[in-house]
Amino acid sequence: MAEATQSKSVNFFLDGNFAPVSVERDANDLPVNGQIPADLAGHFLRIGPNPAHIFSEAAYHTFDGDGMVHAIRFANGQTSYRNRFVQTEGFKLEQERGDWVYKGMNSMMDPTPSRVPEGASSSKNLANTAFAYHNNTLYALHEPSQPTIISLPDLETVGATDFRGKLKHPFTAHPKIDQKTGEMMTFGYAFQAPYVSYSVINADGDLVHTTPITIPKPVFMHDFAATSKYSLFLDFPITLDIERAIAGGPPIDFEEAHGARIGVMPRYGTDADVRWFDVKPGVVVHTANAWDEGDEVVLQASRSKTADIIGAGLNAGDKLPDTQGQLYEWRINLVTGEVAERALSDLRCDFTRVNDLYACHKTRYVYGGIFNPSRPFTFDGVMKHDSDQGCDDTYYYGSRRHGGEAVFAPRIGATAEDDGYLITFVHDENTDQSECIVIDAQNVSDGPVATILMPYRVPYGFHAGWVAGG
Ligand SMILES: [Fe+2]
Repeated sequence: MAEATQSKSVNFFLDGNFAPVSVERDANDLPVNGQIPADLAGHFLRIGPNPAHIFSEAAYHTFDGDGMVHAIRFANGQTSYRNRFVQTEGFKLEQERGDWVYKGMNSMMDPTPSRVPEGASSSKNLANTAFAYHNNTLYALHEPSQPTIISLPDLETVGATDFRGKLKHPFTAHPKIDQKTGEMMTFGYAFQAPYVSYSVINADGDLVHTTPITIPKPVFMHDFAATSKYSLFLDFPITLDIERAIAGGPPIDFEEAHGARIGVMPRYGTDADVRWFDVKPGVVVHTANAWDEGDEVVLQASRSKTADIIGAGLNAGDKLPDTQGQLYEWRINLVTGEVAERALSDLRCDFTRVNDLYACHKTRYVYGGIFNPSRPFTFDGVMKHDSDQGCDDTYYYGSRRHGGEAVFAPRIGATAEDDGYLITFVHDENTDQSECIVIDAQNVSDGPVATILMPYRVPYGFHAGWVAGG
């Protein structure tokens, strides 16, 4: 039986299946409808905010929650499940106290005295957003912070890392790994200059290159992109503005007048090498992939007209679709300097992913979550976009059934880009039953080939990952 949903909350992100779970569990031989493919072996991982202690139920923001990892291990047609909190320093402090220590982003100005002990970090590394798997190491990521190493298969927290003292800047939740060279490209953004910093970590896990990237004003830069030659920076108009906040406005807000530019820099370039290309103002939260093609650099991403980061879209009403992305493409011609940009699909989507083995190189397919048109942070289905055919293959989960990020897991022995499976959690709000579904990526609209009935509730979360192997 699924764990009962917690009592209703006034806070959208603590209500229903957004509510956290408090117990860490293990389960084997999970019940399945259909058949787990025999040619699927590895860990499906999903991370998200799962607060253990909350300062203010009303003011809680979904970005504040402690990271929790939910993992399903696929091996020989069998599955097992494990969930664990990421044991960050802030999480451990609150566990020791048995109550909140950190107040959260919407309560920064609250007059309640701080409980952060002397010597502890003034902010919490939440490790709640996304994964990277590089140099046989699994990282849980949180963009203002250092990566946190998690062991597999036990999901124990090894701890945060600064790459032997070489990482000097925040580390995005969305680094890019070029599987052909083994390099991991990363960046971080900050309120103080340098507003952006960029680093490359080689295949052996050594941080070998860092450079500042100059932009005129700090912006919320959640993601970036990399091709086999270049790294791409998105100076888009969600600005960070302390003076605006002091004047009573939002510290993070869409500011169209800022304009939008894509910076293109060689993988081992420096600030002076960045070429900036003006594009139409809009919002990109997540990219899908980028690659080099002749004289062009091609970028595909989910792009929306505007954004409501602080409000998280909760009060957007009819404007919600304007904050939901569409799959979009920019073609930057490095010889002529021209940029061609266009929407690729009418569907509203985000959590865009490709087959990770092809990242930084040309891809034909993008996978994404299809947004619910009226409820924020809610996905009704999964899409596969075919750039060659210009069409989408979709699967919808059904009434009051909502999913998360679908990750692509290559079939053992795969030879084609889309030869594999899409895996995501789905929650049935009619029955409060969580599921993990496995879809043949070459036949998305056929629906799941296997539906794992989760013995415990899995809350909605942020990003997913796939680590192949036994
Ligand atoms: Fe993200």
